[in-house]
Amino acid sequence: MTAPRTWLITGVSRGLGRALAEAALARGDTVVGTTRSGTADLAPGSGILHILPFELADAGAVASMVARAFSLAGHIDVLVNNAGYTLLGALEDASDAEVERLFSVNVFAPLRVIRAALPRLRAQGRGHIVNITSVQGRDPSAGVGVYAASKSAMDALTQALALEIEPLGLRATAVAPGGLRTEFLSDRSVDRSSGSSVAAYPSVGAALDRFRTVSGQQAGDPHRAAAAIIAIVDAKEPPRRLLLGSDAIDRARRSVEDAEAERARWETLSRSTDVPEAGDA
Ligand SMILES: NC(=O)c1ccc[n+]([C@@H]2O[C@H](COP(=O)([O-])OP(=O)(O)OC[C@H]3O[C@@H](n4cnc5c(N)ncnc54)[C@H](OP(=O)(O)O)[C@@H]3O)[C@@H](O)[C@H]2O)c1
Repeated sequence: MTAPRTWLITGVSRGLGRALAEAALARGDTVVGTTRSGTADLAPGSGILHILPFELADAGAVASMVARAFSLAGHIDVLVNNAGYTLLGALEDASDAEVERLFSVNVFAPLRVIRAALPRLRAQGRGHIVNITSVQGRDPSAGVGVYAASKSAMDALTQALALEIEPLGLRATAVAPGGLRTEFLSDRSVDRSSGSSVAAYPSVGAALDRFRTVSGQQAGDPHRAAAAIIAIVDAKEPPRRLLLGSDAIDRARRSVEDAEAERARWETLSRSTDVPEAGDA
């Protein structure tokens, strides 16, 4: 068992964020958790719990939330950008407002939180930033393209962040779950595109049926996912990317294999765009 840690976790009202907060508190850690209301029915157990109000779509709320979290806890060992949601429907049907809101919550808010936290983490000389992405960011499905794009953006951002902060003693990991048995695919959590072209897209209709069927039946256990996140935070050499769940492993592997096969098939054309060196035919 390691020494008690301090966490800042967004979205501890339910789902993975709540499971992670519970697991950290059970270890005797300090958790600063955020919820939209600023309240949560979480018991601190042997840990210390602070709840701060935070609506991720409110760009102006980030700086004060992060400042307050650091002042309440004294320092933050682990920042977990967890809160997020999905937008279901055909890409054609997503309005500007729907896309902008999803990117505000899933990308711009965590990026703002990271930017606000970094000067303090640099001053501490330690800290681990964990961004909850998704296997959808590595292997996108029809019917969920805007969400997949947001998670892919967070994956790339996390990899670049890791390169920037590792020399300073800080860490960053993109954690990409497969399906987790939370309310994520329920009507309480999902947004649906407002357009009406879904009947024109059989692939989208099939995907939406699949999401409906899988809701509540996902293979991933949020409590086990929380334990896995704690394991990488405990690790001496944590990964920059971590998949969670057998479904995530299978999809990510297939996606890499497909990408490699396509790369090989088109390699000659891909290489043909270099400026010819003197002497080349
Ligand atoms: N479940 C899955 O299958 C799955 C798979 C891959 C990745 N993920 C990712 O895992 C993370 C957690 O999802 P979950 O499965 O725990 O889903 P969930 O049960 O729907 O919980 C989502 C959490 O995010 C919060 N949230 C959503 N929008 C917010 C906003 N605008 N402002 C503040 N808080 C907001 C919710 O707060 P409220 O209670 O106030 O709504 C809730 O605490 C997300 O980033 C999700 O993309 C989930």
